[in-house]
Amino acid sequence: MIKNNFPELLLKTDQSSFVKNQIDQKAYDYKVNYSKESLAFNQAYFLKNLYKCLIALTYLDQYNLLQKQPICDIGCGGGCFTLAYQLVFGRVDANLIDKSSSQLAIAKQICTDFNVSFCNCDLSSDILNNQNLNLYSYSLGEQSDIKNTNLGDNLLLIDYPEVIESFVQCNKDNYMFFCCKCSTILDESSSGLIHENNLEVNFCLAVSKKYLVNQYFEIWNNYQTDKLQDLFANKLVYNICPKNKSLNSIDMIKEYWLLNSVRQSDLKLYYKIINQENNLAKVSFIAHFYDIIKSQKILVDGIMTLHFDFNKIVVLEEFYKKYTI
Ligand SMILES: C[S@@+](CC[C@H](N)C(=O)[O-])C[C@H]1O[C@@H](n2cnc3c(N)ncnc32)[C@H](O)[C@@H]1O
Repeated sequence: MIKNNFPELLLKTDQSSFVKNQIDQKAYDYKVNYSKESLAFNQAYFLKNLYKCLIALTYLDQYNLLQKQPICDIGCGGGCFTLAYQLVFGRVDANLIDKSSSQLAIAKQICTDFNVSFCNCDLSSDILNNQNLNLYSYSLGEQSDIKNTNLGDNLLLIDYPEVIESFVQCNKDNYMFFCCKCSTILDESSSGLIHENNLEVNFCLAVSKKYLVNQYFEIWNNYQTDKLQDLFANKLVYNICPKNKSLNSIDMIKEYWLLNSVRQSDLKLYYKIINQENNLAKVSFIAHFYDIIKSQKILVDGIMTLHFDFNKIVVLEEFYKKYTI
């Protein structure tokens, strides 16, 4: 439930118009003084940022690209990402972090009834390394900070295209990340409400290769055939080289996986990305399972190469040797 005074809190004021003008004119050069201007900042931007987070989360949910909570809302400001998460999924389990206590005070008013905790700290703080979190979001934040930080495995960055591009270029690969570009041109009434008829949304999503590889092994491990179309392009080639076999459609992979799932039990997979460049990732893997028909324990030692087109696998090439153990 959202607090009753939520809309009133965010009504525009002269100070919020002033802050908005400064930011709009000077873009990233204007440093908001959050201890004095956090309420004005949220009055100017909260609804817009909430809207962007809603678009991003709805899209990611639609394509099953989101690992679910718990989440960490870094640089949470007034808590618009956490609120969007609650609105899209009906439940949020979040840790909200911000170095500004004034921003956190607003987030506490807006997200107070959710399953959340608040932490007044810097994102470089050790607290971030110790958490078992599924998703770190840094939406519309002060981006220079995040490039120098080691975060957990999944990072969702919702921001302007230029910011996303500079982040992608710094090419950290000690964690997987995926980024949403989300830029909106919104026209707002003086009350801060968004006119939908003047709405233009450019949305673009980039998913890291490491994230896609992890997804692939996760769905393979459980033979989740219904998830194949989230990961593979419709036009695909899956070469199983030792068998001289080539699969050319999602339906063919489904059939192959269904056969394997009936034949194998206790499947365990281990894998490591050994090389990734351009649109390609090379992965070494070991699979072991119990072959029900032959009543034998089998170990498969292999290398696979995955070629991506944007966020989908277009070619998968598999070399392996099979051993009875
Ligand atoms: C532009 S505001 C965005 C707030 C909110 N995420 C939104 O979308 O409305 C950036 C927020 O990041 C916080 N922030 C900036 N650098 C930070 C850091 N190093 N550690 C923690 N919070 C930080 C600021 O205090 C501010 O609340």
